[in-house]
Amino acid sequence: MRLIRIAAAIAVFAMVSVAQAQQPIVIKFSHVVAEKTPKGQAALKFKELAEKYLPGKVQVQVFPNSQLFGDDRELDALLLGDVQFLATSLSKFDRYTKKLQVYDLPFLFENLEAVDRFQHSATGKALLDSMVPKGIKGLAYWHNGMKQMSTDKDKLRRPEDVKGLKFRIQQSDVLEAQFRAVGANPQKMAFSEVYQALQTGVVDGQENTWSNIYSQKYFEVQKTIAVTNHGVVDYMAITNTKWWNGLPADIRKGLQEAMDEATKYGNGIANEFNERDRKRVAEAGKARIQELDKADLAAWQKAMAPVWKKFEPDIGKDLIEAAQKSNK
Ligand code: LMR
Repeated sequence: MRLIRIAAAIAVFAMVSVAQAQQPIVIKFSHVVAEKTPKGQAALKFKELAEKYLPGKVQVQVFPNSQLFGDDRELDALLLGDVQFLATSLSKFDRYTKKLQVYDLPFLFENLEAVDRFQHSATGKALLDSMVPKGIKGLAYWHNGMKQMSTDKDKLRRPEDVKGLKFRIQQSDVLEAQFRAVGANPQKMAFSEVYQALQTGVVDGQENTWSNIYSQKYFEVQKTIAVTNHGVVDYMAITNTKWWNGLPADIRKGLQEAMDEATKYGNGIANEFNERDRKRVAEAGKARIQELDKADLAAWQKAMAPVWKKFEPDIGKDLIEAAQKSNK
C-alpha cells in the first residue's frame, strides 16, 4: 500500500513537472507610445517573431501607451523584474550613464541616416553595453526620428520667440540645458502627461517627432510647429542583464534573432512613418507648420552651442567627435 502511495506521488510530481516545463516563459514588453508608430510596430514585430522562433516556449505580451508603466517608472520596473523588455528613449538614461547624453546634444546629427551610421560604428555599438554594470543590457537601437519644436504661440522662428516659454522635456539634463540656453523654462514630465499639460497650458510647448506629434494629437493643442530637426528621438531596446543571462541558451538565441529582425523592420519604416505623420498634421490644418531657412537654423544652433561645452566633460570629447563623424 505504502509503495503504491509513493508511486502515485511520484507520478503526480512528474506530471506537474512536465506541465511546468511546458509553460511558456511570459515576457512583458512595455512602452509609452501608440501602436501606429515605429516603436509600436517594432514591438509587435518582436512579439510575432519571438513566438514564431520559440513556439510554445515564450509568450510575449506587449503593453503600449504607458498602459503597464510610464516612462517615469519603467526603468525601475525593469530592474525589479516586473517587465522584461523596454525600448526607452535615449534621452532617459541620465541616471545610469552619462555617455548616452551624446544623443541629446542639439544639432549634432544632421539626420536619421547619420544617427544610424553612428549606431552601427564600433563606438555606437559599444554604448549598448554602457549600462551593463547597472543591470541594463542594450540589445539594439530602434529609430523614431528627428525632433520638431512646437508652441501655442503664432510666432516660432527664432530663439527669441521661445524666451520665457515653458517647455515639456524628457528626463534629460542635456535637454534641460538646451532650453535654458534659449531662455525658456524646461519641465521634465512623463510622456503620458504631455497632451493634457499642453491642452491646459501647464506648458506652452514641446519637442518631439512627427510620429509622436501626430499620434499624441499635440497638433490639436499647439499653434505652430517649427521644422527644426534640432535633435533626435531614438531608442535603446533593453532588457534586465541578470534575467537575460539566466535564460536557457536556445531561448536567448531565439529572442536575439527576433530582436535583430524586428529592429531591421522598425528602423526600415521609421522615416516613412514620420513623413506620413507630417503630412497628416499638415492636412489636419490645425497647427501651422513653420519652415525655417538657413539663417533661422543657424540662430538656433548658435544659441544652443554652449550646451556642448557644458556636457563635454561628462560625455567625453572623443565620443562627441566620433558621433560628429557620422555626418557626411
Ligand atoms: C517622449 O517625448 O517622452 C518620447 O520621446 C517618448 C517615446 O518613447 O517616443
